[in-house]
Amino acid sequence: MRLYIDSADVKQIAYLNEYYPIAGVTTNPSIIVKENRPYIELIEDIREVIGEEKELFVQAIGDTAEEMMEEAKFITHQLSGNVMVKIPVTEEGIKAIKLLTANNIPTCATTIYTASQAFLAALAGAKYVAPYVNRIDNLTGNGVKVVSEIARIFTTNQLPTKILAASFKNVQQVHDVCLAGAYAITVGTDLIEKFITFPSTSTDVSVFKEQWQKVYGSDKTTLFNS
Ligand code: G3P
Repeated sequence: MRLYIDSADVKQIAYLNEYYPIAGVTTNPSIIVKENRPYIELIEDIREVIGEEKELFVQAIGDTAEEMMEEAKFITHQLSGNVMVKIPVTEEGIKAIKLLTANNIPTCATTIYTASQAFLAALAGAKYVAPYVNRIDNLTGNGVKVVSEIARIFTTNQLPTKILAASFKNVQQVHDVCLAGAYAITVGTDLIEKFITFPSTSTDVSVFKEQWQKVYGSDKTTLFNS
């Protein structure tokens, strides 16, 4: 299981990357334009914060496979480190994934709403597929079910493509896709912190400290000064 940050907010990425076991950062055009600054400079800043090893996903915006191919070459040349090119699963996108795979440029097939889109993208050679869980739910579909169907299809066909589930609005959806067979999840900054927030945990931690200090003294705040 891998955890990615779905954001281009450099400050938040720096903070979450320090505290949480982050595998990389995913972006899309909507996420990038929110920051309202030159995009190359922005993704270079994200790279600097997460280091060269962690995966950084940048999405193509071209309409044709050839344009997406040129964008992918451009972005992998501009940006150092481990770069994944996100390609929407249109017909041109599937062609682009085939071309990029032939050129050893790793792709993530994105904007996935159905298991058959994921299946085609995997056959075309995508390294990842990104089903949009909450957006599927919003269309009265079942995002978790789509993830579990994709997982079954990949296993049955022994396809190496990994499921990077995306688009979440709550922790329950994340929990459910983890059980349904997602290899990775990408989550907005506000939701990542909610993973570990639980009132009983902080209450327990305070009680442990109180009990300790009652016996060893109120100035004893760590093991090494007790
Ligand atoms: O990575 C895809 C994701 O950004 C879409 O999420 O929350 O806009 O549906 P959302």
